[in-house]
Amino acid sequence: MGIYDIIAARRTIRKFTQGRIGRDTLERLVDAARLAPSANNLQPLKYAIVDDEAKVASVFAAVHWAGYIAPAGDPAESERPTAFIVILVDTDITKGDPGLDIGAAAENLMLSASELGIGSCWMGAIDREKIRTILALPDRFVISTVVALGYSAESPVVEDEKGSIKYYKDGTGTLHVPKRKLRDVIVG
Ligand SMILES: Cc1cc2nc3c(=O)[nH]c(=O)nc-3n(C[C@H](O)[C@H](O)[C@H](O)COP(=O)(O)O)c2cc1C
Repeated sequence: MGIYDIIAARRTIRKFTQGRIGRDTLERLVDAARLAPSANNLQPLKYAIVDDEAKVASVFAAVHWAGYIAPAGDPAESERPTAFIVILVDTDITKGDPGLDIGAAAENLMLSASELGIGSCWMGAIDREKIRTILALPDRFVISTVVALGYSAESPVVEDEKGSIKYYKDGTGTLHVPKRKLRDVIVG
């Protein structure tokens, strides 16, 4: 698959099989994030890989799923993510907000996951203090966001927006993700 096809096929996944993702694969996803563009090439981001079952369960309790349709977007017990990657800002490298770096890194990570059949959900609605405690993270690291990971067990569909950008589930439980139309995002 070419890069456009991987981009078009990637959807946020909130249902996962319980197959474990190997440590090498998780490190490969961090490697893809590491190679992202970075303002001034500062590279202030660090990553915590969470794949220990007990820790995954604890982090799961500190994240919130699919606000528009809650609680219908919560993964069932047998559909939970099997790993998380926590994106951190190293304040020894920058005191600023490297939000654009984070976006580029997270997208690299999620597209690389998608290429391998691994579903992802990038999460900002998280309890950062709880996650700091679970992972015993030093204060030096600011917790940005979390990427939930696991082999995909759902196939959301993307569609042109028709009056609302809110994702929704249809009667069969399939998630629909409206995107603004190409002609609506090109200005002039
Ligand atoms: C910065 C950011 C934070 C997000 N936080 C959450 C979150 O806390 N919980 C969640 O279920 N989804 C979260 N999402 C996923 C979005 O809901 C999802 O990207 C959006 O509905 C579009 O779907 P798509 O990724 O399949 O294109 C987040 C996405 C982004 C970019």
